[in-house]
Amino acid sequence: MIFGRVKPLDAILATAEKKSLHRSLGWFQLTLFGIGCVIGTGIFVLTAAGAQKAGPGLMLAFVIAGAICIVAALCYAEIAAMIPVAGSAYTYTYATMGELLAWTVGWALVLEYAVAASAVSVGWSGYFTGTILGNSLGVHLPAWMTAGPVALGGAEGGLVNLPAAGIALLVTWLLMIGTTESARVNAVLVAIKVTALTAFIVLTLPKTNTAEFSPFLPAGVFGGFGTGVGAVGAAATIFFAYVGFDAVSTAAEETRNPQRNVPIGLIGSLLFCTVFYILVAAGAIGTIGGQPILGLDGTPLATGSPELARQCALPQHAQALVCSNEALAHVLRVIGFGAIGNALGYAAFIALPSVILILLFGQTRIFFVMARDGMLPEWLAKVHPKWKTPHIVTAYTGVVTALAAAFFPVGQLADWANAGTLYAFMMVAIAVMVLRRTAPNAPRKFRTPALWLVGPATIGGCIFLFANLPWQAVLVFGIWAVIGLAVYFAYSRQSSHLGQGRVEVHEADLDTAPPGTV
Ligand code: ALA
Repeated sequence: MIFGRVKPLDAILATAEKKSLHRSLGWFQLTLFGIGCVIGTGIFVLTAAGAQKAGPGLMLAFVIAGAICIVAALCYAEIAAMIPVAGSAYTYTYATMGELLAWTVGWALVLEYAVAASAVSVGWSGYFTGTILGNSLGVHLPAWMTAGPVALGGAEGGLVNLPAAGIALLVTWLLMIGTTESARVNAVLVAIKVTALTAFIVLTLPKTNTAEFSPFLPAGVFGGFGTGVGAVGAAATIFFAYVGFDAVSTAAEETRNPQRNVPIGLIGSLLFCTVFYILVAAGAIGTIGGQPILGLDGTPLATGSPELARQCALPQHAQALVCSNEALAHVLRVIGFGAIGNALGYAAFIALPSVILILLFGQTRIFFVMARDGMLPEWLAKVHPKWKTPHIVTAYTGVVTALAAAFFPVGQLADWANAGTLYAFMMVAIAVMVLRRTAPNAPRKFRTPALWLVGPATIGGCIFLFANLPWQAVLVFGIWAVIGLAVYFAYSRQSSHLGQGRVEVHEADLDTAPPGTV
């Protein structure tokens, strides 16, 4: 039963045939698009959480997470170019491993996209309240309205993160009315982000002090499974900084000469980000230090924990990197570049909403496809007559995203998003290998090089990072999976079109170009 109800590849490809998108992206646009999706809260905010887990070993964490993303990206590239329809990993799994596993992937993608959008919203809120309101306008909002409740691990005195919920709702509304983002806007936002990070690197690296890098691995390489600390624990969290590159693969079919340009776009954007991330981490830690705050047992306090929030409120930690909600701007201010720190804060303020937009867009399109397959109620997939968007599913997704952003801290949300993403990446790698066996002659515009090494490396890497997430994130993933299975057996299994014997070829795929590509 587990592998039952495999959706015929031909029907999926027939839908793809009818898709009217014909664009010709080159490697440069693709790389720009990738960087636009990827650089966000991960580097601008989670640098603090990463340092709390690994200290200077955060630099190693970026290398580990980046390497796993690169092999995963190579797998994505093959299948995305081969099955170029909406639904991403969910659709690929449906065509290879059947409905039940496809459902679990679709369900996990909610974590990858919607929960990640919540995390980026909370990251944005840190810069909005710190740089825009606090430093620029002198408005200091009370703590209760800028962070989730302490019982859930938020900052001391938090109750509800109103700015985070607000930005999530604003972006949702923009998506509902059909706003998308042009390639030109994306290019401008990428330029803003890259300029901000370059300025950061140029200003901090000359001021680094080698003493700050010692001890390099205060929590070791492996902090222990489930603890979420050590370089590998930090890699499992900071993996978030790379999430979003799979959006590049969704543009594969619109790419000129995909065999060459898709891997350049995917790997180019990932390598570019990896190098930047390592330099940024070096600049941040080398200037103001990035040693974790330890608990009584000598291990780093959990990020987002009430105890860490209490420690961070003490005067001796006022300048600690690991305590900042706007890590990079904070570093620049501490080393005497207040104005540039604020400018970097503005860059995050302007650019992060586009990452939320891309993530929410991805989520609504996956829900849309699942509803069209009968796995979710079909009324969810209704398209608005004027806006031409799946407005109902967008509204629901946005409200849930905003609620999560309102009540949970960024580090926890990122860890949950990572758990779902790692599962999806693993399934994609399996799907690519299965298709090589079951459909060896189907046309492939791009073939993953050395698949029988790269595929298992992706699967192993994903399991490895998953096992090194904090146990709470693994638990949330488990609970989420159980709820998903209950929904599947109570509803989706009966209502599935494929289960009812309906194999559909759709005249048009709603999936318009992802924001930022055209
Ligand atoms: N990689 C994206 C970010 O860091 C999701 O915000």
